[in-house]
Amino acid sequence: MEKKIKNNNYLLPLLLLSLFFQFPLSDNTSHPHHFHKHFVFIHGSCHGAWSWFKLLPLLQSSGHRVTALDLAASGIDHRNPDSIRSISQYFQPLTDFMSALPQHQKVILVGHSLGGLAVAKAMEEFPTRISAAVFVTATMPGPALNISTIYGKDLTLATLLMRPVPLFTEKDMSDVLKLSERNYGSVKRVFVMSGMDLVSNKEFQRWMIENNSPDRVVEMEGSDHMVMMSKPFQLCAHLQLLAQYYP
Ligand SMILES: *[C@@H]1O[C@H](CO)[C@@H](O)[C@H](O)[C@H]1NC(C)=O
Repeated sequence: MEKKIKNNNYLLPLLLLSLFFQFPLSDNTSHPHHFHKHFVFIHGSCHGAWSWFKLLPLLQSSGHRVTALDLAASGIDHRNPDSIRSISQYFQPLTDFMSALPQHQKVILVGHSLGGLAVAKAMEEFPTRISAAVFVTATMPGPALNISTIYGKDLTLATLLMRPVPLFTEKDMSDVLKLSERNYGSVKRVFVMSGMDLVSNKEFQRWMIENNSPDRVVEMEGSDHMVMMSKPFQLCAHLQLLAQYYP
């Protein structure tokens, strides 16, 4: 019995070491497995890159490259939210990231909740750099489903929008989120439904899916709005599958 416990003591440091040394290998250019992707995560309102802390090491340890961004005045970006003047400025960290991507590189964008708006905007602006966009119980506007219509349907969303940056007006959002079939529509799109989401309930998620059909719908059972916290293993498994579907 005692020997067993001793043996186990070696396992954790070994596992941690192996995870640590795997990180540099996860780079697309150096790894032999073509299905290894670069995932870029966009948090929801009032959150930050930290909200993905459970999911990231799981995905990383399976060889994928992961980046979690803080949108403006979020997470460890200590700018005062009141200093953010428009939704474009709020999205700027993602815009900067996408602009800086090396020519040949593509990413899988994953947005949670209101992060879906940033993902939608990036799809319109950088359609050829995104192999798939994953909306994790996220707001998913489209060419035929504008923000005003979504805004009118979901009051919870409306109140959430008011919190991080009070200056996001409907007009500002409509202007920035003009989405076309040609750009936005050309990017593969996946919606991850969360069964027990109380912030954006199942009915609302279904309504968005019906009015702006994605290429694929993944349904997760027993997860709340914070899917990446409540079901990190399940979500990781789905993302790993998606990495194989969308080269
Ligand atoms: C949003 O879509 C609705 C329904 O298609 C339309 O009536 C409305 O004018 C649109 N609003 C904007 C700002 O484009």
